[in-house]
Amino acid sequence: MMLGAGRWLLRSAAALGSARQGAAAAARALSAAASRRTLFVTPPQQSEQQQQQWAGAKIVDSKNWKANVDASKFLCTAPDAVQEELCAYVKPLAAGALTHDTMDSHSVDRNQLKHTEAFLRDIEASHLINGPAAAILQPIANLNSILEIRLAALTMSQLMGECLKQNAQGERSILVFDRDATRQMVDGQRYHQSHEGGSLHTDNVNIPQCWEFMLLTCLQPAVEGGQSILVSASAVYEHFLRTDPQVLETLWRDFWWEYRGFNDAFYRAPILFTNKMGEPCFRWLREYMESAHKRLGVAFTSAQQHALDALTAVTLDPAFQFRHTFRQGEILFANDLQLFHGRTAFLDAAPAQPTYDFEHPVNRLMQRNWVKTASVYRDINQSDYTIPTRHQVTAIMQSN
Ligand SMILES: [Fe+2]
Repeated sequence: MMLGAGRWLLRSAAALGSARQGAAAAARALSAAASRRTLFVTPPQQSEQQQQQWAGAKIVDSKNWKANVDASKFLCTAPDAVQEELCAYVKPLAAGALTHDTMDSHSVDRNQLKHTEAFLRDIEASHLINGPAAAILQPIANLNSILEIRLAALTMSQLMGECLKQNAQGERSILVFDRDATRQMVDGQRYHQSHEGGSLHTDNVNIPQCWEFMLLTCLQPAVEGGQSILVSASAVYEHFLRTDPQVLETLWRDFWWEYRGFNDAFYRAPILFTNKMGEPCFRWLREYMESAHKRLGVAFTSAQQHALDALTAVTLDPAFQFRHTFRQGEILFANDLQLFHGRTAFLDAAPAQPTYDFEHPVNRLMQRNWVKTASVYRDINQSDYTIPTRHQVTAIMQSN
């Protein structure tokens, strides 16, 4: 069953207004928009005739859940044949030449993993695309070391599609742990390098191109805290549709973003958009987006400030949050732009260090992989974006 979406006049200042038409035309319009990206810093204002009547996004029941959702909706277990196949593949790799530092160089041999690849395609369809936009895979039996678990997650990421580089160093399997307990994100610390909680977000924020799936693998739970938090993008969207649709209209317009971790450039993109199925997607990590505006000297309007505060408040509202304490070996599969995720603050057993101590793995440790799927769902989530030239960015900085 689809929920009817409200209608209001969208006075969009976005660069590509045609992509903002009704949900029924969303797939066609978004596809067309992808081939018409421009280099305008300030998008052309739309005339009265160009103003679009936006029908909103459609909300599917399976993706519209809140805190009281049954955990069984997310939990899944690999069949024995898959677990045995993965173990047979991963264990020799871990016992061989691959180390924590070199494992990213491994290229998966699909011929040895037919059962696993088919299982992952099932998870995509049943949980990530047509289900709750998330799956929590139970630990693979007999994977005992952290390196084996890391390799299993990397293997599954590569089986799903292209396992993407996540920073300028080209790392594909990023370790999430606290490097320095004294530094905070307001000081420029990356989220995955801190122990802070809150800040519900999507990961697809520091590159404009959209990819589909994130795998977050628990390698070592924290001694205290570090509980994972999931929030449905559809539930947040529906909340504002009922209570404050002006927030959605504001989030539908462009904001400035930075390529944190990659380079010092900027791009523009909306926080809210619809995917090719006409469903709501969010690009959201407030601290990174605010940093881009601050660096450029571009202040938020009062409407933008209200929308940002409202989105923050709802994602931090416990009524919207499904919480799960991950065990070692559990893997979160996320349809990233349809699922806010975050964690509670955590306390480690040992002092934070710049390099993880694999000899004494007592501190909280997760692995993050980003996947551009090779399945039929490739490019299902596509947002407009605009990339300015350096000259245009300089002009904006000098004018503010
Ligand atoms: Fe994240």
